[in-house]
Amino acid sequence: MPVLSARVAPTAPLDLIIDTDPGADDVVALLLAMASPDVLRIRAITTVAGNVRLDKTSRNARLAREWGGREDIPVYAGASKPLLRPPIYAANIHGDEGLPGVVVHEPAQGLADGSAVQYLVDTLSAAQPHSITLAVLGPQTNLALALIQAPAIVRGIKEVVVMGGAHLNAGNITPVAEFNLYADAEAAEVVLNSGVELTYLPLDVTHKVLTSDARFSQLAAIGNQASQLVVDILMEYIKADMQRYGMTGGPVHDASVIAYLIKPELFKGRSVELQVDRRQGATYGQTIVVEYTTPEQPGNVVWIEDADAQGIFDLLSTRLACLK
Ligand code: BDR
Ligand code: CA
Repeated sequence: MPVLSARVAPTAPLDLIIDTDPGADDVVALLLAMASPDVLRIRAITTVAGNVRLDKTSRNARLAREWGGREDIPVYAGASKPLLRPPIYAANIHGDEGLPGVVVHEPAQGLADGSAVQYLVDTLSAAQPHSITLAVLGPQTNLALALIQAPAIVRGIKEVVVMGGAHLNAGNITPVAEFNLYADAEAAEVVLNSGVELTYLPLDVTHKVLTSDARFSQLAAIGNQASQLVVDILMEYIKADMQRYGMTGGPVHDASVIAYLIKPELFKGRSVELQVDRRQGATYGQTIVVEYTTPEQPGNVVWIEDADAQGIFDLLSTRLACLK
């Protein structure tokens, strides 16, 4: 089975939309992205219900924007519930406000007018062919709704990079399903079937990129507001996973997607044929790698399964040092 080292770093800034359900690790991802304007041109942040309700994920995205000093980036609120299934939340991991370890407040700047789904349809319809990258850090509801409304938007998309799924790693919301896929498996299937270029960073890789005391010290040593926020949020966030899995540290799932966009050489993956199980029952939301394919005859997904964990924390540290 050929192992692909992931592609080389982008030579020009990527036009990026971040679709997210903040969420502790989502906020770390947003700060990392906002600290990297030389590589990522963030066109908008779009929010979805996921870790907590939509009003809270939207508030937390605006908080992250305020902390990142990037009020120029519009935040659009999107879907308040999945395509078909009843909503599920993860307040047990992310806290009632969706942001553990810090005190939240109402940010000065509000949401952009209009819905995230319409923003996606309008922006991707008007975009140059294959010009916009989407980082999808929560349930894939917004993108699925946009694709259902206007299937031709695929043409404007360069790549969709998803945090989600699990194959050799167990699930984290059921024994076999990862939270983002389980929260809206129907949406994930719409995206899978759309023909868009898709990369997945599943639990198989994010459970290899764990915090440690040394990595917390590394982040704290930066000594600015952003690094202190990241330390405070993560110290609280990782407790549940460390206890559940008996791991020595906790994962920072969504930040791996942004690290992948900035420095793909830190990651390894392979081309696969991926399916999502939508049958009601014990396997709902499971991702199944049905076949390892080749770069010459690729499958429908690039499945990232290994990473240089210390390299990712070094990247996070270097980048956070650029924020206030
Ligand atoms: C994913 O689920 C959410 O709780 C996290 O924000 C991450 O996107 C990990 O399974
Ligand atoms: Ca998330």
